[in-house]
Amino acid sequence: MKQELEAIRERAVRELNEAKGQQVLENLRIKYLGKKGELTSILKQMGSLSAEERPKIGQLANEVRSFIEKDLVKRAAEIKEAEMQKRLEREKIDVTLPGTRRELGAKHPLSIELDTIKEIFIGMGFEIVEGPEVEYDYYNFEALNIPKDHPARDTQDTFYINDNILLRTQTSPVQVRVMEKQKPPIRIISPGRVYRSDAVDATHSPLFHQIEGLVVDKGITFADLKGTLETFVKRMYGEDSVVRFRPHHFPFTEPSAEVDVQCFNCHGEGCRLCKGEGWIEILGCGMVHPKVLSNCGIDPEVYSGFALGMGLERVVMRKYNIDDLRLFYENDVRFLKQF
Ligand code: DAH
Repeated sequence: MKQELEAIRERAVRELNEAKGQQVLENLRIKYLGKKGELTSILKQMGSLSAEERPKIGQLANEVRSFIEKDLVKRAAEIKEAEMQKRLEREKIDVTLPGTRRELGAKHPLSIELDTIKEIFIGMGFEIVEGPEVEYDYYNFEALNIPKDHPARDTQDTFYINDNILLRTQTSPVQVRVMEKQKPPIRIISPGRVYRSDAVDATHSPLFHQIEGLVVDKGITFADLKGTLETFVKRMYGEDSVVRFRPHHFPFTEPSAEVDVQCFNCHGEGCRLCKGEGWIEILGCGMVHPKVLSNCGIDPEVYSGFALGMGLERVVMRKYNIDDLRLFYENDVRFLKQF
């Protein structure tokens, strides 16, 4: 038994020396000192020893045990130190290396112009509101005086989700939502995405952006509409800009008009940008139809208002003489860098 104990000690020391990781050490501890370990099983046989031998072997067994225990602690510390050294080596940073340059993004031209438009309207006391892009047929059409069989529905090819729900084809439904909720005075603009089932080409996209404007109060007249739009155009395109109102038709306004700005490229002479016209159309507008007001619970005998709607892409294309709408969505940096 004495030899066995010596042999265990020798083997344990050797194996501990060779151990490379904390887990191996733990396995060795279990192997030698654990409940079913080698040392324990020797101690269990002590009963068969003579009374004389028992204390001697017992003492030796204790020595071996504390020897192995001390060795375990020592090796654990050594292994920990070695692992730390390795980690420091691995994580060494060379602060003299040149850094990797990150590409810095910039605002999209649509965002730049939208911010400008928002600022101009905020300066005139307007608030900015948003509406849902998934909209009820009621808000997108019915409440705006566009019933089911109205020809205006054909000109706005609609993505229907079901009979009642669609992707809004215009930002005008926000007018209805605002008027339903808020008592006049109302003075808001509402920018956002709109959707139409158009094939993609240089001037069409199934997704584009509009900015809606709405003012409702007592005594609002067409003169207020003209004044507001003239101020907007001068701030947007320069103080010397000239504005023209042309009669038009929209189901939700009466009377309705389209607004042109005198071509800021040729000043009315006629050029490629204005297609020889001398004028560039920028938005639709009009006095809110009495039916729309009463649909929203506002008494048209007491209140009146004006509304306007413009296409953001169009405004930006005309400002920068961009001839292909697709450039806005392709995110080609050669295009985006120019703004
Ligand atoms: N919603 C119209 C469209 O998409 C644009 C428009 C015209 C909006 C006249 C208006 C308006 O608010 O008064 O074609």
